[in-house]
Amino acid sequence: MNEFGFKEDVLYCEDLSVAEIAKSYPTPFYLYSYKTVMDHFTKIQKAFKKMDPLICFSMKANSNLTICKALVSAGAGLDIVSGGELFKALKIGCPPDRIVYASVGKTEPEIEFALKKKIFSFNVESVPELVMIDTVARRLGKKPRVALRINPDVKADTHDYITTGTKEKKFGIDFETAEEIFDNENKYSNVRIKGIHLHIGSQITETEPFAQAIKKVLDFIEKSGAEIEWLNIGGGFGIVYGSEKAQSAEEFAGKIVPLLEGKPYRLILEPGRFIVGNSGILVTKVLYVKTTRSGKNFAIVDAGMNDLLRPSLYGAYHDILPIINIKGEIKKYDIVGPICESGDFLGKDRDFAELSADEYLAVMSAGAYGFTMASNYNSRPRPAELMVINGEVKVIRRAETYKDLIGCEKLFKEFK
Ligand code: LLP
Repeated sequence: MNEFGFKEDVLYCEDLSVAEIAKSYPTPFYLYSYKTVMDHFTKIQKAFKKMDPLICFSMKANSNLTICKALVSAGAGLDIVSGGELFKALKIGCPPDRIVYASVGKTEPEIEFALKKKIFSFNVESVPELVMIDTVARRLGKKPRVALRINPDVKADTHDYITTGTKEKKFGIDFETAEEIFDNENKYSNVRIKGIHLHIGSQITETEPFAQAIKKVLDFIEKSGAEIEWLNIGGGFGIVYGSEKAQSAEEFAGKIVPLLEGKPYRLILEPGRFIVGNSGILVTKVLYVKTTRSGKNFAIVDAGMNDLLRPSLYGAYHDILPIINIKGEIKKYDIVGPICESGDFLGKDRDFAELSADEYLAVMSAGAYGFTMASNYNSRPRPAELMVINGEVKVIRRAETYKDLIGCEKLFKEFK
């Protein structure tokens, strides 16, 4: 369920016509629905209610301050992966004891920053990282909570680039190493190893891989006798982009909760995409329509791979819809951006009634890993982020300007 839908051939975001919004704001822009964000968060809260989990929204999916603030105000914590995300999390007043920090490459300054701010836990991904956290903690006189991120070697059916829980991937610690760490806990006397973390991948549309990974970890906890205060099962709940059959929050919970009920540790979840993915669209305008001699139709639009990278990087499918449905003979189009790369496309071989210049299109399900993966490639300012909140459009991030493009540069002119 989301708040984007057609009323008499016009696409609406909540009760506002996207066509009307497009008259007031230059394209491309991201448009989010506050109601949908909150609805999806509430769905996870309700489905896992029995476990009273800490739900740490994964900021990498969408780190817009307003969106994160809305979720934190509703009780969410945040899952971060960098000093920058920690900075943003603190900026919006997220209580540090609701922040969990994963990443295979935490730097010493980032670790120090997080230690000083007293985050809930570090999700540790290797022995050298554990040594680093232990060392910095000793220097600062702290004793942080850490969780070992286990790589359970479970395959989830998703794109190879976003599969993380198999043994050939860079993420996490294998069971044998984790056991050695628990057996030698006194070597790391400046940390409290009290949690286990898992994250097997993203856009997983089945429940089985989660159950498999959790079962493996439960076996491990039992066999190793590790004294655990919390189990963080990561994110990864998939959504519908096109024809896939994703699970509802209840279906995910239905498989997971029975495995964990009654266990003496707290459950942490790190959903990202499930909360924001279907809560946002990218609105773009057709600049030109070009038909090649071979009969191929290209609709060249004003959004490119710098604005939404997923189709180019993963071959990801996003529905692309006209914001006003026009009837007519259906033709196939490649929807491509203005960037100088053949990989710059938003969709291929899509059916549309004749497209023409100045028509607006909506790239659907762009709320997760959309703006956060945007770049300035080809010196293109990044687009605005708008959100419908309480029936009104709010600019929650203005579009970048040409001036923003050079803001960090220092022009050196004294060449010899
Ligand atoms: N926790 C950890 C440790 C993660 O690495 C991730 C995502 C999440 C939670 C949230 O996963 P989610 O619930 O959103 O699936 N750029 C890719 C997705 C990369 C996901 C990286 N990690 C994409 O556009 O599909």
